[in-house]
Amino acid sequence: MNPIQQRIIDLRNQLNEHNRNYYVLNSPTISDQDFDYLLKELEQLEKLYPEYDDPLSPTKRVGSDINKAFTQVEHIHPMLSLGNSYSVAEVEDFIRKAKASLVGEDMEIVGELKFDGTSISLIYEHGELVRAVTRGDGVRGDDVTANIKTIRSIPLRLTGTGYPDSFEIRGEVLLPWEAFNRLNEQREKDGETLFANPRNAAAGTLKLLNSAETARRGLDAYLYHILGDNLPADTHYGNLEAARSWGFKISPDIKILHSIEEVDNFIKYWDEQRKLLPVATDGLVFKVNNLRQQADLGFTSKFPRWAIAFKFKAEEALTRLESVSFQVGRTGVVTPVANLATVPLSGTMVSRATLHNEDFIRSLDLHERDMVYVEKGGEIIPKITGVDIDQREEGSSPIRFITHCPVCGAELVRDEGEAAWVCPNKSGCEPQLIGKIEHFAGRKMMDIDSIGSETAQMLFKDGLVKNIADLYDLKYEDVVGLNRFADRSAQRLLQGIEQSKKIPFERVVFALSIQYVGETVAKKIARAAGNIDRLMTMTAEELTSIEDIGPRIAESIIAFFADEENRKIVERLRAAGLQMAVEKEEVASDALKGKSIIISGTFDHHSRDEYKQLIERHGGKNVSSISKNTDYVLAGKNMGPAKLDKATSLGITILSEDDFLALIGEDNKETNSDNGMNEPNGSTEADSTLFPELF
Ligand code: IVH
Repeated sequence: MNPIQQRIIDLRNQLNEHNRNYYVLNSPTISDQDFDYLLKELEQLEKLYPEYDDPLSPTKRVGSDINKAFTQVEHIHPMLSLGNSYSVAEVEDFIRKAKASLVGEDMEIVGELKFDGTSISLIYEHGELVRAVTRGDGVRGDDVTANIKTIRSIPLRLTGTGYPDSFEIRGEVLLPWEAFNRLNEQREKDGETLFANPRNAAAGTLKLLNSAETARRGLDAYLYHILGDNLPADTHYGNLEAARSWGFKISPDIKILHSIEEVDNFIKYWDEQRKLLPVATDGLVFKVNNLRQQADLGFTSKFPRWAIAFKFKAEEALTRLESVSFQVGRTGVVTPVANLATVPLSGTMVSRATLHNEDFIRSLDLHERDMVYVEKGGEIIPKITGVDIDQREEGSSPIRFITHCPVCGAELVRDEGEAAWVCPNKSGCEPQLIGKIEHFAGRKMMDIDSIGSETAQMLFKDGLVKNIADLYDLKYEDVVGLNRFADRSAQRLLQGIEQSKKIPFERVVFALSIQYVGETVAKKIARAAGNIDRLMTMTAEELTSIEDIGPRIAESIIAFFADEENRKIVERLRAAGLQMAVEKEEVASDALKGKSIIISGTFDHHSRDEYKQLIERHGGKNVSSISKNTDYVLAGKNMGPAKLDKATSLGITILSEDDFLALIGEDNKETNSDNGMNEPNGSTEADSTLFPELF
């Protein structure tokens, strides 16, 4: 072997070892700096000598930003979930039944933590990771190998000896609390929807098309189940110990339990101690240790009979309601917020909780100074789940929703069928005006980087910017010298404003803050109308004929443009040079760059012509006959079987209509970002982060 190749291999071995020391064993033996130094050397050598490439090289852990749709893979063994139990008695019952079926045999139970992430199946052949698949529907999942390779605690090549030629190992991919909090802080800064919990964040991160972004977020993984022939031990515990020696990260907290008493103690211990763990857990798992006994017990149609999950109760605290305040959002919606005597809960200090709306307050029958139960379920914002009526102070009166805006004093209105009270003073209520400026400048709208919440407030309070159109009249002399604005930042602000004039019409429509018009609706109405003049004059009938636009949204759009103030603002924005029409041949993204795509069949969301345009606008090429050079078939309904056969035999990826829309980032749902205190939507991760690089 020549010395270069030898050095490359040495470096790879050293780096693999250091990755394991750091990420699996938590005991690094070199500094981060020295690690980076070795990694750089390897990167350079690999660049210079591509003939020694290795897809499992530690340099591949940083991921790539080249998009590729996930292919679906069938699991070798279906991925089942576990039966749940919520009390010690249920766990005891499970153990008694299992033991009874094993007539007269001794039985050991392994107790484990139930990690709250997203499950993964890893396939190893000859000691190398060949494939990683998500759970999916249990039968088929997505091939996420590229993303899994970025998780440094997952060995790409096994160490030690005794592993079977081919086996599967399953576990949980998770985002440790620290990485989760860091990610959400960043998302808050960027004005993006926050992940409700580390589970959603982990699942969303694993499904990113940009594995370089996955690599940056800091996923981790614990493995807890091996499947295959020729496993080294005849117990679950023994096999996990062996897996540990091959380089896998196995929880140090797995424990063999010999009696119901030991099981009870395990539960008691972890019910408290789990609060100190660096990762989220939502319970414990108890498994019969002996594999032969597992096989004897078998499965029900849904769950193994040899394992059960015990779910922890959501953490709860009792604290006093000190007051209720009312916040006014950008669109005038008034949200009640409970101010609480500060209590510790699931690792954070809680002093506020959303009360959602008037009906919620009523359903709690909330009174002044009540003692309330707060719970942090899956959400970031704690919830009030109940009131301890026994502790209610005598003579305390029920909490009443305010009748007038707490900021401008206007009388609030609540439309029929709506839950929210709204301040109707659109053009004179300060938080609405400032909120609109802040929204306008947001990353997904006009992307004026230097205007966040504070700057929007400052510009407004200084009287420089009373509405979004005023931004385009700002001059250097106006801003330089303002609080915090030195020369450089003043220039940056003005540059940002200037650049916003190129932002496409669709985003301008979103930036206007029309009630109920979020990102997706804005895109749809902008494209259907084509330009602002048309949009301003569309009738309810025309608007509701656009996909997904109902009467409520249509009415809100019409009311917006009927307002003289708003029309003036639009005219001033037009005069300033903003994009007021859909750009015809605009390139929307690079998602399909260099790809040849066939359209076949009939579709629900767009016509074939529209799909042709979409392909081109996202950098792809629409071709008419299948060959081995075709990358994708966009397959609608009634696609001819011969075509389908041919595509399959050539190994061409078949995209359903939804797959295709997801690929080009057109599948995102509305998110309500009125004032950040709305009830978080538990499934936001898929909407906003599946393909963030395309937004
Ligand atoms: S064993 C057939 N062990 O919980 C048994 N699962 O509700 C397979 N989970 O889908 C699962 N920690 O995603 C097992 N120590 C652990 C676990 C665990 C978390 C998850 C896993 C599974 C779900 C079942």
